[in-house]
Amino acid sequence: MNESLTLTDAASQTPAAPAKAAKAHLPDAQIVTSVKHWTDRLFSFRVTRPQSLRFRSGEFVMIGLMGDNGKPLLRAYSIASPNWDEALEFYSIKVPDGPLTSKLQHIKVGDEIILRPKPVGTLVHDALLPGKRIWFLATGTGIAPFASLMRDPETYEKYDQVIMMHTCRTADELEYGRQLVENLKADELIGEMVEGKLLYYPTTTREETPHMGRITDNLTSGKVFQDLDLPRMNQAEDRAMVCGSLAFNVDVKAVLESFGLREGANSGPLEYVVEKAFVGEGI
Ligand SMILES: Cc1cc2nc3c(=O)[nH]c(=O)nc-3n(C[C@H](O)[C@H](O)[C@H](O)COP(=O)(O)OP(=O)(O)OC[C@H]3O[C@@H](n4cnc5c(N)ncnc54)[C@H](O)[C@@H]3O)c2cc1C
Ligand SMILES: NC(=O)c1ccc[n+]([C@@H]2O[C@H](COP(=O)([O-])OP(=O)(O)OC[C@H]3O[C@@H](n4cnc5c(N)ncnc54)[C@H](OP(=O)(O)O)[C@@H]3O)[C@@H](O)[C@H]2O)c1
Repeated sequence: MNESLTLTDAASQTPAAPAKAAKAHLPDAQIVTSVKHWTDRLFSFRVTRPQSLRFRSGEFVMIGLMGDNGKPLLRAYSIASPNWDEALEFYSIKVPDGPLTSKLQHIKVGDEIILRPKPVGTLVHDALLPGKRIWFLATGTGIAPFASLMRDPETYEKYDQVIMMHTCRTADELEYGRQLVENLKADELIGEMVEGKLLYYPTTTREETPHMGRITDNLTSGKVFQDLDLPRMNQAEDRAMVCGSLAFNVDVKAVLESFGLREGANSGPLEYVVEKAFVGEGI
């Protein structure tokens, strides 16, 4: 066991700041404690957690910065850390001319961000009926809610097998998830629980890597079931959570329905749930 690893170290490359590095000035301010840039369009960061904030792994909150007009500029962000973690982690896109992320990408340890402590979302265990296997299906930054759920012991208590399918265009865009899974398996607290249960299936679509192809295609063709030695997805045993672009979500829903799974919600649990990773068609 690598003693320097903790469950949340995937994002911790810059030294952690003291719990409260500076006095907060913004409304609902939290202090940035680490930042890691993964590519020129992806980064992750950790901030202090409000003592009163309770959330279910998989939920999202509104975070942001003060805008030039003196009003908070907020966007929805999935909490990437699990609910037991003392800090909060986020995994973010950098949109070159995006109102928030063109600025947020420059945050440093000790800076303040605004965090509205009202977590919500559909990617929660309560929205699914009990099952044997849970499939986490994500493209791009859509892995963020699953970074939380993969680190939550409840996920492994509820399911015999947890399958993380993550697809990006290129290998470097998979790296946040890859390191997270690697560290998780080596972790002294949850590593044993995860061993043999967490099946990680990363694929790329525009760069040659060992596993290629869109999630929809690998499900429809049956390739992923063959590769992982699993039965074809079915209503009795399989549950799924989906998070990606609108086009991905629409297409993968059709695939899940073809296997007999039905969309559930907090108010009416069924076999799968969906959340948008972002609003809009593309950068
Ligand atoms: C429920 C929910 C959860 C979200 N969770 C996250 C998260 O964990 N991490 C994250 O980076 N974003 C997340 N987003 C998107 C986020 O709210 C912002 O859109 C993003 O931070 C960009 O903000 P912006 O102001 O710079 O640009 P915006 O004006 O908000 O977006 C500009 C354009 O950039 C594209 N875009 C925005 N976000 C993304 C993205 N994540 N991946 C690819 N293209 C994108 C879209 O085409 C959008 O129209 C989430 C959105 C929703 C609805
Ligand atoms: N990723 C980059 O290097 C990059 C760089 C600059 C700008 N952008 C822009 O940023 C925006 C978001 O890019 P992104 O790469 O984060 O997200 P994305 O375009 O949604 O692609 C992410 C992954 O999802 C797959 N995918 C897309 N639509 C799908 C669908 N309907 N069904 C199944 N799989 C689907 C893609 O496969 P395919 O490759 O087969 O589409 C890709 O592997 C895009 O508009 C893009 O133009 C991206």
